[in-house]
Amino acid sequence: MEPAGALVGHIAVPGDKSISHRAVLIGALCEGETRVRGFGRSADTESTIAAVRTLGVQVDEPADDELVVHGAGLRGLRPPGAPIDCGNAGTLMRLLTGILAGQQGRFELTGDESLSARPMDRVAEPLTRMGARVATNNGLPPIVVDGTDALTGIDYALPMASAQVKSALLLAGLNAHGTTTVSEPAPTRDHTELMLRAAGANVRIRPHSVSIDPAALLSLEEVVVPGDFSAAAPFVVAATLLSGSKLTIHDVGLNPRRTGLLDVLERMGARVSVFNRRKLGGESMGDLEVHSAELVATDLGAEEVPLLVDELPLFALVAACARGNSRLTGAGELRLKESDRIESVTEGLRTLGVRIRARDDGFEVKGVPARPTGGRMPSDGDHRIAVLAAVAGLVSREGVEVGGAEAVAISFPGFFDLLDSVSRR
Ligand code: S3P
Repeated sequence: MEPAGALVGHIAVPGDKSISHRAVLIGALCEGETRVRGFGRSADTESTIAAVRTLGVQVDEPADDELVVHGAGLRGLRPPGAPIDCGNAGTLMRLLTGILAGQQGRFELTGDESLSARPMDRVAEPLTRMGARVATNNGLPPIVVDGTDALTGIDYALPMASAQVKSALLLAGLNAHGTTTVSEPAPTRDHTELMLRAAGANVRIRPHSVSIDPAALLSLEEVVVPGDFSAAAPFVVAATLLSGSKLTIHDVGLNPRRTGLLDVLERMGARVSVFNRRKLGGESMGDLEVHSAELVATDLGAEEVPLLVDELPLFALVAACARGNSRLTGAGELRLKESDRIESVTEGLRTLGVRIRARDDGFEVKGVPARPTGGRMPSDGDHRIAVLAAVAGLVSREGVEVGGAEAVAISFPGFFDLLDSVSRR
């Protein structure tokens, strides 16, 4: 990545990855056809399409960003007789485990090397309390699920703020006896709740908890997927840091449980405006207009972390270019992502000349309003780290060689081309 002068122009980003996974998975449980428009195609969401196909669900692909999912009904998934490969996608593995707990038959879920090292006891344990039969390999994948029709709803307080775990339990709750209630230490993304409600489930959303009743039938018909805020985020950050930028990003998902980065940037002095705010299927969306700005440091803690969990690597770079010392705490979950993101972020940015130090549960950054030097930064096979390294290159003095740059395709295959199209020297 060569250094850039500014980002200028108008873009749109691919459909939201979290919502795309859910549209396919929940569509598979619906009666009849679900048309998914604005589907975000990526290695992760391709894994989800492949997974439901192996479970007997027909998925048509009339266009690159459009799918038709032929639902099998709430208990209509069929055991494939071979492992279901979840690839790199933690969201797929965890949500699907919740779904399969209430199906009929035996299912095995596997993943790639990174996913195989990620904790699955966080879903297995509460699902077992619901009466599910879920086995892991010492808390890790592969997962084996023996479906049962004897699930019962529970009241569960999540020990960590995780939308994936919450979603797994709500999806299991669809086929359980009685109500399932999940409370969370801090609000996390609520895409599952919103989509299940749109599909006709009885869902009650409160600030720190959500309840779902067993469903008789789900039906979605159409899901319009907004642009992925997490895919827009690197553009928002780069345009903020590169003076003279003026960038508009159209049709971006603005669910308030996803846009924590905007609040953080605003208190640091950024200039991001929202236009055309509207709602579709319970989800908010709008256009973002970003002007460059000079930033000051800020601190960020546990309550805010889930609202920008996937943008925390980018926050490290923003903090590095802001005046003063910034600190992230309460983000121990970052160590359990596609890589240990506290290590990959701090090690990587330090090699580029950033003054950043790891903590157990976050990092501390000494920011200076100047470009980092540059150098070589590995992605550690983690898509969010590859994107961070690329943005660091744009805002650096000497450029950055991004090691393992192909990892961007996990969430955003066209990332480099789109970046190129708005970069000015
Ligand atoms: C996701 C939830 C988050 C996030 C991940 C996608 C989801 O993980 O980091 O990229 O779609 O539910 P956790 O819920 O485990 O924090």
